[in-house]
Amino acid sequence: MKKECSIDLIKGDITSLDVDAIVNAANNSLLGGGGVDGAIHRAAGPKLMQECRKLNGCETGEAKITNGFELKARYVIHTVGPVWHGGNGDETDLLANCYQSSLLLAKENGIKSIAFPCISTGAYGFPKDLAAMIAINETMRFTKIYPIPERVVFVTFDEENHRAYRKLLEQ
Ligand code: AR6
Repeated sequence: MKKECSIDLIKGDITSLDVDAIVNAANNSLLGGGGVDGAIHRAAGPKLMQECRKLNGCETGEAKITNGFELKARYVIHTVGPVWHGGNGDETDLLANCYQSSLLLAKENGIKSIAFPCISTGAYGFPKDLAAMIAINETMRFTKIYPIPERVVFVTFDEENHRAYRKLLEQ
């Protein structure tokens, strides 16, 4: 039988985590920005930008992988969340795709432990409760089927996101 994947919740800075890969909530250019994206580029050093320049951007809902350079994490998986426009478009599907694409890349690269930030819940304005539900549902769906990753860490940075995840994970 497949080993259970462990799912952890940590409040703090994703750039300090000792996991195989951290996920970046990037934008379509993959050329850096504010929020968690800015923090990851600062912590990884300038070589991360050099590698990102070669990737030709990334579609919303898709993911691309780079090295982690000066991070403890060996890899960064860059995904682009949707901008929240009120929920009448395909925002929920696109956010679900971010988690699926990132987990698939992790699996393809033998990544055993991966940490996610709360994609789209900062500058992109996605409602936090809904984003947490999508993040957890998609992760559980994936890890029930595939043996890796073996450990998924959800990293929250603000109290509202932390409460939303805690409530759902305690159920
Ligand atoms: N560690 C963990 N989480 C963090 C950190 C950190 N160091 N810093 C911020 N967060 P955002 P988005 C949380 O805005 O909404 C960028 O400019 C933050 O509290 O980083 O997907 C990109 O280049 C929030 O809950 O990403 C894009 O242009 C979550 O990370 C755009 O922002 C996501 O907030 C993407 O917007």
